[in-house]
Parts: sequence; structure tokens; C-alpha cells
Amino acid sequence: RYKVIFDTDPGVDDAMALRFLTRRPEFDLLAITTVHGNLDVDTVTRNALWLADWMGLAAPVARGAATPLDRPAGTGAPHVHGANGIGGLTLPQRMARAPDPRPAWQVIVDLVRAYPGEITLIAVGPLTNLALALRHDPAIAGLLAGVSIMGGAFGTRGHAGNMTPVAEANILADPEAADAVLTAAWPVTLLGLDVTQQVVMDAAYLDRLGARGGTDGAFLRAVSRFYQDFHERSRGLAGIFAHDSLAVINVMAPGLFTRRHGPVRVVCGGVADGQTIQKPRGALCPPSPAWDPYPSQSVAVDVDTAAVLALY
Ligand code: BDR
Ligand code: CA
Repeated sequence: RYKVIFDTDPGVDDAMALRFLTRRPEFDLLAITTVHGNLDVDTVTRNALWLADWMGLAAPVARGAATPLDRPAGTGAPHVHGANGIGGLTLPQRMARAPDPRPAWQVIVDLVRAYPGEITLIAVGPLTNLALALRHDPAIAGLLAGVSIMGGAFGTRGHAGNMTPVAEANILADPEAADAVLTAAWPVTLLGLDVTQQVVMDAAYLDRLGARGGTDGAFLRAVSRFYQDFHERSRGLAGIFAHDSLAVINVMAPGLFTRRHGPVRVVCGGVADGQTIQKPRGALCPPSPAWDPYPSQSVAVDVDTAAVLALY
């Protein structure tokens, strides 16, 4: 089984990814760590606690970074995920469980040290917690089985950014952290908009989940309504992008993705703030200190959409 830590800012598609992950026998979820992003960190931590409770999970929930590494906190995306970040679902006033006393980065470091070589980090929010973990204990980079990240936009299929013409939301929320994470010597796969926007769960698919999926299906249908309205309003899309679930599926079914290899950097500032760029292996560029010191990472550029939808 894959030992995983789920780093998240729930978030509708985060919640959908977590439900998938925790129903699959392939995964052993060791912790949920939260991070600012879709909403402020207190709100997304509350959501994670509720999700963990509702799903009956044993894994601890640890509160993570409230702000990006070097910038003030953003305003989040209530227009995408609802004012409560979880599609307007009604949550109880008081949470049944409390967060782990340690900050998220500490939980990541502790678990990676406890299970060297065994853990895969699944990161589906801004990358601040991962960057802080590396900052506190750089040697953990050599102790991970893998890092599967929903983030970035490489334009390989004509998909540009979803926040600016070139930047994707998770990366733009903390570009300095993202650059630190993507240039570290751990094996990263990036599931960016190039693939996540190919996987559309349309209204009929969501209705089928709702009708046939029992309690889980009813939850997935209810949590995704507001998100679906956003996609319809903003893009005329009669459905939702599966985004965060792809970072989970990549771990258990890596063969469903086509990859490109080479170092990845993140633009920090200026008109292209938050843009992710890969120097593909074999690219005809002169040697450059901006690229050559950094390890090759894997960027998903194509996906077997039908297989992903069937699996989910
Ligand atoms: C990413 O941004 C968030 O709004 C989603 O949860 C997903 O992680 C997509 O760009
Ligand atoms: Ca997310």
C-alpha cells in the first residue's frame, strides 16, 4: 500500500479527491495537512477536520501555513468553492475533533523521518508547507518515495493558466514555495492544467455518481453543485474539472499519464508571476545556471481521460 500524506486546501475538488483516496485499498493515509489557498487556513482546516470526521478517518489533521513564504495572504476563491470553501454544505457548529498540535511542516518531517523512502506526498494546494518542511529539514528530499502535485500550467495542449494567462492557482498562491519545491532533489510529478482540464466530470457523470454512489455519491453530487455552477458561469462548461483527484490517481495508476522530463522552474514576480516552465530533456538551449543545477522532474502532458473517469 502507498503510505501518503495529503496536503490540501479544501476546497471542493480537494474533498472529492480525499473521498476517492480514502475509499481506495491501495492507500494508507498517514496525515492530512492543510494550507492557505482556496480560503484562509482556519476555514480550510475546519473543513478538513469535518471531512476527516465525516469520513471516519484515523489520520491526524494538522494546520499548516496561513500565508505564502514571502508574500501576504491572498483572498482565496469563495466564488469557486463557495463562501465556506466546501460548496455551501452545512457543517456542524462545533467540530468533533481538534487539529494535531504540530504545524503541518513538522508532521511532514516527522512522518518522512519515521518511514524513510516509503511516503508519497500528495499536494493539492499551494506548496508552502512542503517548502517549509524542506527548509527545516532539507535531507527529507532524499527520503520520499514521490511527490505528486496538482499544480502548474505548461501550455502543451493549448491550456494556459486559470488565474492569469500563464499561471495556475496553486502555483500563483505561492510561487517562491513552488520554485523551492520543484527544484529540490525529490521525485516530483506535476499534474497541471494540461491534464486536469482534459478530465471533465460533466453533469450527467455527476448525476450518475449521485444516483448510484450511495452515501458517498450523494456527498459528491452535493459538494460539487456550487463548483459546477462556477464552471458554467465562467467557462460555459457543463461540468467540472477533476483537478485534485488526478494527483491521487497518478500515484496508484501512473500509466494513465504521458510525461515529459526535465527541470521545472517557477517565475517569481512580474507579468509572468507564477508561470511554470520546464526545460524538456534534450532541449537545444545553451548551458544556463537557471536550469542546469536542478533535477529533472516529471510533468504530465497527456492523460487517458476515459480511464480516469471510469476509475473515479
Ligand atoms: C487548483 O486550485 C484550486 O482552486 C483547486 O482546489 C485546485 O487544487 C486548480 O487550479
Ligand atoms: Ca486544491
